[in-house]
Amino acid sequence: MKWPKTITIKEVGPRDGLQNEKIFIPTKDKIAWINELSKSGLTSIEVTSFVNPRWIPALADAADVMAGINREPGVSYSALVPNRQGLERAFAADIDEAAVFMSASETHNVKNINKTITDTLPVLKEIVQDAKAADKKTRGYVSTVFGCPYEGVVDIEAVVRVTESLFDMGIDELSLGDTIGVANPRQVQEVLDVLLKRFPADKLAMHFHDTRGTALANVLASLDMGITVFDSSVGGLGGCPYAPGASGNAATEDVLYMLHGMGIHTGVNDRQILAASAFIQEKIGRALPSKNLQAAGAHDK
Ligand code: HMG
Ligand code: MG
Repeated sequence: MKWPKTITIKEVGPRDGLQNEKIFIPTKDKIAWINELSKSGLTSIEVTSFVNPRWIPALADAADVMAGINREPGVSYSALVPNRQGLERAFAADIDEAAVFMSASETHNVKNINKTITDTLPVLKEIVQDAKAADKKTRGYVSTVFGCPYEGVVDIEAVVRVTESLFDMGIDELSLGDTIGVANPRQVQEVLDVLLKRFPADKLAMHFHDTRGTALANVLASLDMGITVFDSSVGGLGGCPYAPGASGNAATEDVLYMLHGMGIHTGVNDRQILAASAFIQEKIGRALPSKNLQAAGAHDK
């Protein structure tokens, strides 16, 4: 296999990780955690969400978190933005990057953002255009690419249509989400085989949830296909409250362990990530799914 020499990790723990937690992590702890992550060599951190706080109470302090963190040079601080109101809040908080999101399957789209796919597109188009006009980077997420919690199998043509619509809006990068962690490496390669005929590999990122233990295998399958950007979450936190059965993202420290062991450079310091993982595990108050965090704990005993 010919592996890429360098890949980029995009840390989504503070957003995807915390949005699914029942407890509210105090703002000062979120800030301290993100400040640690900022010093680890990561170049991209998804800090929070400017969604309706009634839908995602765990991130109701989005503006205070953005205002409280130290901005390290070379790190892009992004946030989810669902609509015009969210974009105005995100601009006021001076985000570096706006991440818009929608699903390939109709039912998850409606459950998650209260609109049909057709009605979502003009809303996101306006956000992307305004964010670009304000010199912000833009990212698009497509959820339920590999399966939907409500509809089951998702037609690849539906993924292509939504992906194309988001690229037509002018997004800088698109992240393909296995929202409920159902994908397997063969399916990942089949889906990428179709998408890479239409969209460039360097504009695509993969976002694997590890509900069934296939996330690392799916990262490897994507590497084989030439993908070089991966979303992951410290501790393996994560999940979408509007996707029943969704659990954590691929754990950042597990992805790093695999990639670094394979001689692939990420620029991220694994020890600092493990320390940040232990910090948030203690605040959450239960063992997190990350294998390397648990292995490090066992080793320390
Ligand atoms: P809605 O209820 O249809 O919105 O929600 P609305 O425009 O009808 O407004 C209703 C109320 O919400 C109004 O307040 C608005 O002011 C307020 P009221 O008059 O009733 O007091 N409102 C807002 N408040 C603050 N910020 C805003 C905002 N917008 C409206 N931005 C909406 C539509 C999209 C807002 C809602 O459905 C929502 O917030 N959804 C977010 C759900 C979410 O965050 N899901 C998880 C993230 S996606 C994910 O995890 C997948 C991903 O990780 C990839 C993968 O894994 O596949 C990205
Ligand atoms: Mg996710």
